Order: sequence, then C-alpha cells, then structure tokens
Amino acid sequence: MDWINGGKFYQTGQPESNWDLWVKADGAGIFDSGSIRWYDDPLKRDLSRGNGRFMNENSFWNHLPQPIVGLAPMDGVTDAVFRAITARHGGPDISFTEFTSVDRIVLGHDPDLSDLRYSEIERPVIAQVFGTEPEAFYRAAHLICELGFDGIDINMGCPSKTIAGAGAGAGLIRTPERAREILQRTRQGIWDWAAGQEIGRIGLPAVVVESIPRVKACWFSQTPDPAEAALRRTIPVSVKTRLGYNQVVIEDWIPSLLSESPAAITLHGRTLAQRYRGEADWEAIARAAEIVRGSGTLILGNGDIRSAATAVRRIRETGVHGVLLGRAAMGNPWIFRTGDSIRTAVRTGETPPADPCISPVEKLAVALEHAELFDRNRGTLSFRVVRKYLSAYCRGFKNASELRQRLVRVDTLRELEAILQPVVCG
Ligand SMILES: Cc1cc2nc3c(=O)[nH]c(=O)nc-3n(C[C@H](O)[C@H](O)[C@H](O)COP(=O)(O)O)c2cc1C
Repeated sequence: MDWINGGKFYQTGQPESNWDLWVKADGAGIFDSGSIRWYDDPLKRDLSRGNGRFMNENSFWNHLPQPIVGLAPMDGVTDAVFRAITARHGGPDISFTEFTSVDRIVLGHDPDLSDLRYSEIERPVIAQVFGTEPEAFYRAAHLICELGFDGIDINMGCPSKTIAGAGAGAGLIRTPERAREILQRTRQGIWDWAAGQEIGRIGLPAVVVESIPRVKACWFSQTPDPAEAALRRTIPVSVKTRLGYNQVVIEDWIPSLLSESPAAITLHGRTLAQRYRGEADWEAIARAAEIVRGSGTLILGNGDIRSAATAVRRIRETGVHGVLLGRAAMGNPWIFRTGDSIRTAVRTGETPPADPCISPVEKLAVALEHAELFDRNRGTLSFRVVRKYLSAYCRGFKNASELRQRLVRVDTLRELEAILQPVVCG
C-alpha cells in the first residue's frame, strides 16, 4: 500500500504516527485522514493543505467551545438514563459512559451491550473503556465506532484494587509502554473500521454483533440521522488518568501519553494512593497543563469542583482547556447550564456566575422524570437502584432530609408517584 504524507509517497505497512496529514493511495483513489473520505481522483485533493494534527484534526474536540465543561464518568452513577436527564436539564459539553471492560465487551459477557447504551441527546458522547490487553482494545474500538460513539476514552485512573491491581485503570501509570501500546491498538482498530473492516470479521461473538442494532435508545424523540450514522469516520481517542500511582509523576507520565497524541487528557488531581481522600491538587494540574501546552492535545482538569465559581477559578489558575464535573452533578443536572457564563467569565475576567437557583418543585419533578425513565429501561435491575439518585435530588431546600428519608424507602414507581405527584402537580 502506498501512503502520501506532506505530498510525498511512502511505501510502508501503515502511516507513521508523527505524520500530520496522510492519505492512503491505491489504484481506485485515495483515503484522506483529514476529511475521512475516499477520493476517486487524487488530483481533486489538495495534499499541501494545512498542518492539522494527525488524527485529531477532524475531531469533535476541536469544535467544542472552550473552556469545556463536561460530565465526568462515574461507574454506578452516570448510566444512560442519568446522562440523558443531565443532557436534557443541564447540557454538559461532553458526556462519558461509565467505564466498561474491553474484555467484557469482546468476550460477550455483556451480550446486550447494556454498558454502551446512549441516546442522541447526549452528543458528543464518549465510550470509556478499561483493560490491559491491547488486542481487546483493538476489537472494542471497532464495536464502539460501529455503535456511533463520538469518541473513545481510555481509563488510566481507576484506583480500585481489582482493576488497578490487575494492571488496568491507574495500574497503567506503572506500565507506560503498555499504556502506549493500548493507545496504538485502539487507534488502529478505529482506522481499520473506518477503512471498511467488517464488524462480523474481527472475532467478536455473534451475540454481540447481533445486539448492535438494538443498542441505541431513542429517548426524548431524538433519532439519529441515518446519513450521518452510515458514515465511517475515524473518532478521537482520549485518556482519563491521575497524577500518579503512589506519588505525583506527571513530569514523566504526561509526556509519555503525549507521545501518542491523544485528542485530550483528563487529569484527576489525585494519585491512586489518595483514592478520593484529601483535596485535588490543582497546582499539579497547572504543571501538567504547562507540559501539554502547544502539543495539540487538550487537557481537562478534574476534582472537587462543586460550583460554577470554583470552575472559573480553577480554569483561570491553571490554564486548562476545560473541566469535568462528577459528584457535583448528582441530583444537579442544572449545574451545566452555567457553561456559557463560565466561558464568558474566564474570557472577560467578570465575576463568576452563581449556580442556578432551582425550586424544590422543579427538583422533585426532575427526580420523578428520572425515576420514570429508569423504570422503563431498567431491564433486570431492581427499582431500588434509583434510590441513590432520588436522595441526591433532595438537597438544599426546607424539609429535604425528611423527604429523603421517605424516598430512599420506595420499592416501586407507584410508591414514588404517590409521594411526589401531589407535590409536583400542586
Ligand atoms: C462513584 C464514582 C464512580 C466513578 N467511576 C469512574 C469511572 O467509571 N471512570 C472514571 O474515569 N472515573 C470514575 N470516577 C472518578 C470521577 O470521574 C472523577 O474523576 C472524580 O469523582 C473526581 O471528580 P469530582 O470531584 O468532580 O467528583 C468515579 C468517581 C465516583 C465518585
């Protein structure tokens, strides 16, 4: 196969990772990594165009307003229902799925692909995956592309003993070579899929392939555009990680990640050893932002942002391209309504916006809507799973704790409606 980079022809197995813009040439035409299209006549294409960064040029990340204010992935919390409700009432700039194991996906242990459900309202929506085997990432990347996700995020920050102890999640900080190999194979999976590799031919169990058409949820009347959905375009790869394993190692770790040009790195300002204790170290995030500057990769800071004012302060102090909010979004999708005012405050130096003032009735109406959507889509899960979400909506108003005590005892949607409908419907 011939490849063209910067107007020159190369005969090589695959493009070099430091190429900015490349095209694949064969008898029939050329494949342009910039526009992700085949061109019948190579002469129609201006090969000298721009110096956009390899692979990331077409990425949705580059079209987001900055600073970006997104929803962080939280296992057991940010499921597809939570994200849809958050998108509808708040509108984060990006959302991530809860992390899911690449092995679980490719071995068919989640035949319904329940961890990879999403709805159109969430876009851009990124599938977050974890694991240790580069080949499993290669195959999972095909599946994630086929499902229509906007990006793939690789979890290199999970501190749990079972995951990090097995070398995945934050365990990858200790094996940077392995982390790089995972990024390379994920990217190769995306390229091969975009170049036409059939999903049924990469060794995925038949049960997984058959589930694909059933995965997308059409909630809130949002249906995918069929023409868009049929396009095979490459999607960007990003990483979410921590400052280090036992100690802060960003001076080594971040350059190692940057050598693979991920589209974005989200940095949670704690080491694995800290888990969620203490305070996130935003001074270290600022140092990482300095390392990343000018590389073409975006950096998002994360940790302990509970208000729009804190988001503005952290962005100003560190120069990150954006932030992810996790725990602050529980029971509070409205926090993302402040995205535009956060951007204005950062740009102009104006006073940061106050958080939206939401009446108790509106909070409880959304709690009920959340529970209804959960009930319709919970599959084999118990309705009780929704209790933690209900509890989170009961914050910041008179008699909230009394009401919370009642809500965390409900067993069915009926019981919940009996409590909330009189309040919500007046
Ligand atoms: C319950 C819970 C589950 C989490 N699950 C994930 C996950 O699946 N993937 C991930 O990258 N981070 C996960 N995290 C970490 C969060 O994304 C985020 O980095 C952390 O909560 C700090 O941000 P915050 O202070 O805004 O919550 C989880 C955190 C919590 C509290």
